[in-house]
Amino acid sequence: MRRLKHLFEKNKKWAAKTTEADPGFFARLSKQQSPEYLWIGCADSRVPANQIVGLVPGEIFVHRNIANVVVHTDLNCLSVIQYAVEVLRVKHIIVCGHYGCGGIKAALESKEHGLIDNWLRHIKDVYRFHQEKIEALENEADRFKLLCELNVVEQVANVCHTTIVQNAWKAGRELAVHGWVYGLEDGIIKDLRVCITGLDEISEIHRMK
Ligand code: CO
Repeated sequence: MRRLKHLFEKNKKWAAKTTEADPGFFARLSKQQSPEYLWIGCADSRVPANQIVGLVPGEIFVHRNIANVVVHTDLNCLSVIQYAVEVLRVKHIIVCGHYGCGGIKAALESKEHGLIDNWLRHIKDVYRFHQEKIEALENEADRFKLLCELNVVEQVANVCHTTIVQNAWKAGRELAVHGWVYGLEDGIIKDLRVCITGLDEISEIHRMK
C-alpha cells in the first residue's frame, strides 16, 4: 500500500522495453532535451499529452492544469512558457482543451465548489465574453461543447499576449500558437484553426511595440 509496488514493476518493464527498442534512448535523452512543442492541456487523466499525439519522452514539453487555463499572474504557467520559448526554443505552443471537461462543466454551474471556484472564475469570464453566442444555442450539451472550444481560443490569446511570446516574435523567431480540442469519446483531436504566428495577428490593445 505504501510503496505502490505495481507502479515500480510497470516502470521497470517500460524502461526495459524502451531500452530494447532503442539501446541508446536514455543515454541520449539524459544529455539534453530539445522538444519542438509546448503542450498546455487539462490535468484530466484521460488526456495525456505524449500518448494522444504519439510522441516519446523528450519530444514535447508539457504544462497541465484544470481546464488548460493560461492566467497572466500564474507564475507556474508563465515560467513554463518562458523556459519553453527562451531556452528550449520550441516552435509550436499547443493549447489543447477537451470536450467533457469537468472544469468547464463546473464553471457552467452556479453552485459553490470551494477553493477551485477562484480558478473556475477565469472560465466564467470566457463565458461572459461570449455570452450571446453561447446562449444562442438551445441545447445544454452544445453550450458545454462550445465553451470547451471558446476557452481554448481565449487561452491561445492569453499565451500570445505574454511578453515572452511577443518578444520571440519581435526577435524574428518562428513561433506558432495553436488551439485544439480533444474528444474523449473517439480519441480524435480537432484543430480549431485559430493558429497565431505573429504580432499583427493579435488585438492592438495587447500588442507591445
Ligand atoms: Co478537463
